[in-house]
Amino acid sequence: MSFNVLGSGSYVPPKIVTNEELSRQMDTSDEWIASRTGIRQRHICTTETASDLAIEAAKRALESANTDPKELDLILCATVSGEVICPSLTCLVQAGIGATCPAMDINAACSAFLYMLATANGFFCAGMEKILVVGTEQMSRVLDWTDRSTAVLFGDGAGALVLGKGENFLGYYLHAQGDKDILYIPTQNYNSPWCQRENEKPAVSMKGQGTFRYAVNAMVRDIRQLLEEKGIREEELDWVIPHQANRRIIDAAARRFPNIPNERFYCNIDRYGNTSSASIPMALDELARSGQLKRGDLVALAAFGGGLSDGAVLLRW
Ligand code: ACO
Repeated sequence: MSFNVLGSGSYVPPKIVTNEELSRQMDTSDEWIASRTGIRQRHICTTETASDLAIEAAKRALESANTDPKELDLILCATVSGEVICPSLTCLVQAGIGATCPAMDINAACSAFLYMLATANGFFCAGMEKILVVGTEQMSRVLDWTDRSTAVLFGDGAGALVLGKGENFLGYYLHAQGDKDILYIPTQNYNSPWCQRENEKPAVSMKGQGTFRYAVNAMVRDIRQLLEEKGIREEELDWVIPHQANRRIIDAAARRFPNIPNERFYCNIDRYGNTSSASIPMALDELARSGQLKRGDLVALAAFGGGLSDGAVLLRW
């Protein structure tokens, strides 16, 4: 027993910030950003929050799955940029869509959507029948907008899937390697009168080249490991949907799979930037709605990010 994907949805805030607009705010250029990352623009929240994006993506997924929110047994949400710690962001989504089931957050940074699918699978094995999973990020809230080395990389958005009892989740491989040196987003405020720690800037800091190397190696190892374990050949994959962090990371990984044509590695980073836990469900929804991802397609998902954490998932759409 595992699950089938019943429907998908995604949502991005309407405000688009192009590389040109960013170049007017900081010392950067469209040429630098596009050639190093593949990013041309990103969507940025103005009045919206991570939970607003999540609620809209969830409603769209429920509509495409023809599912009433009252039918859900569980909701899981992933975020590193939610506007609240309590109530959980998932509880805000539960209220926003009019569901009544249990709800909880999952944090594994950019890999969280895959950790969430594996967690949902466990609940299906325990007898649940319908689960909503959402990745949502307001990354613009956790960036230092004076730091050009990180500010240009991220965007805001949300993606969601409705899952129902079935057999199409074929397997997963998850990995973590605790390290706060390479990728770090502190939360602030040590304000007790006894605390002797300094407050840190609550913004993304990252060693770009270290992340790059980790990302390529992890993605290649995780997909290979999973295919080998499941006895599936590379060329049988219809799609590889990687976490969208950098076009060059995706291309470098793709080169290490000579039997998978390059165009099967989906990339939409030019329009959205890195939306962390939302990037994979947003890509799935975009591919499905455009008709390119078809029922029965064999799909590998691969992600890496803060933690450090990474993983791969194999499913039939
Ligand atoms: N515009 C112009 N110049 C810039 C910018 C910018 N936005 N940012 C950095 N530079 C400069 C640097 O200052 C440096 O200048 P210097 O040589 O004079 O010192 C030069 O460009 C080269 O910088 P590098 O960091 O060496 O550039 P690199 O080619 O490594 O690309 C990048 C940087 C795009 C960040 C790349 O390393 C990368 O994509 N890394 C992986 C990022 C990633 O996967 N993140 C996942 C995050 S998951 C999560 O956060 C939750």
